[in-house]
Amino acid sequence: MGTRGVYQVKRCHDEEIVSAAQKPLVDSGDLPYVEFENREWWVVWSGEKPVGYAGMKIWEDYAWFSICGVIPVHRGHGLQKRLISVRVRHAKKVGVKVIYTYTINGNHPSSCSLIRRHFVLCTPPDRHYGQWAGKRDVLYWQRTLTKGG
Ligand SMILES: CC(C)(COP(=O)(O)OP(=O)(O)OC[C@H]1O[C@@H](n2cnc3c(N)ncnc32)[C@H](O)[C@@H]1OP(=O)(O)O)[C@@H](O)C(=O)NCCC(=O)NCCS
Repeated sequence: MGTRGVYQVKRCHDEEIVSAAQKPLVDSGDLPYVEFENREWWVVWSGEKPVGYAGMKIWEDYAWFSICGVIPVHRGHGLQKRLISVRVRHAKKVGVKVIYTYTINGNHPSSCSLIRRHFVLCTPPDRHYGQWAGKRDVLYWQRTLTKGG
């Protein structure tokens, strides 16, 4: 059976809900805490419970996937890929031309999900150094958005 009906992915503007989705991952040391401010957020719901989340920051024509986490018992059901798809759809709608992100070296699940969603390895353009670019020990990824694809 598919999981589309079991989980719902919704855009979220409520800081407390995003924090509730982040908390188990931050507490377990799986992810660093990421500020709510100036980001767009999506939360995965299993009934009343937030079980995953993802953020994106938009600078006019380009965007950056800032973070994504799914709590362990809900992993392996394609939720990260759904969180990628929903952010890509939103980015296209608001006129973003390219999305960037990075993964920590050795994060194979995230790399798999990005490849499945048509991201390719890249070197970030110089103009992004000092923002999210310029880190060591990470892989940088990008997806160029086209009207049809
Ligand atoms: C990374 C994370 C978000 C993945 O969430 P998820 O909902 O389980 O991801 P999905 O089910 O969409 O896909 C995971 C993919 O990784 C693959 N995968 C899982 N474990 C793997 C491993 N050890 N090695 C290689 N691939 C692996 C899965 O097979 C799947 O790929 P597929 O669709 O090609 O089969 C989740 O593990 C997590 O929250 N981890 C801790 C926080 C983190 O690392 N966040 C990302 C920061 S960039």
